[in-house]
Amino acid sequence: MIKTTAKELFEAIPFIENPVYEQLIHDIGQQKYSIIDGFFSSETVSLLRQSLLYKHEEDCFKKAAIGNRVNEIIVKSIRGDQILWIDESLSNTAERLFFDCINDLVAYLNKTCFMGILQKEFHYALYPKGTFYKRHIDTFQNDDRRKLSIVCYLNEEDWKPENGGELVLYLDDNGCEIQKVIYPFPGRIVIFESQIIEHEVKPVETERLSITGWLKIR
Ligand code: OGA
Ligand code: MN
Repeated sequence: MIKTTAKELFEAIPFIENPVYEQLIHDIGQQKYSIIDGFFSSETVSLLRQSLLYKHEEDCFKKAAIGNRVNEIIVKSIRGDQILWIDESLSNTAERLFFDCINDLVAYLNKTCFMGILQKEFHYALYPKGTFYKRHIDTFQNDDRRKLSIVCYLNEEDWKPENGGELVLYLDDNGCEIQKVIYPFPGRIVIFESQIIEHEVKPVETERLSITGWLKIR
């Protein structure tokens, strides 16, 4: 009888390309950002939205600061959102669904692109009416480990462009600056290179819900 180890079995499974991830990798390579609609199902979005709103009601959120966690200050003229960091080891059902999807993506990126993503950090964000996040870049002077920024929108299904809160990416088009305007529709994720892409969140007219995070190297 031939004995097969679990490792041998695992290695025998043919690698199956994931067309959604392949599109993402292609987009990042070409244009430094990618937008994927329906990355999270409407059920997952709804659970995450409930989780965010529940935690916000419990008053766990704090005013978002600028600078990293060691070096942060709150400047309302720069950003007005409120955030809560998510601890994966204490995940509720919704957050487990979230991290299952993110971890799957990370494993794929590390396997196919040797991205070397070793860490991640994610927080909920709630932008009350009238708030915004001025043009900025997601890396800090004293810490450049953030490689990819990921924003996941948790707004209601009937979110309209008039609600504001567009994400604007400032892109370089052969030396000319162009703006890419992205609406925060539920289930949509936006991924971009943290060290390169300047971006801003336009003022919101209706409370805007999301999870934002970073995939980090080293
Ligand atoms: C951020 C950010 C973008 C968005 O939190 O750093 O840029 O669309 N968020 O929420
Ligand atoms: Mn940002």
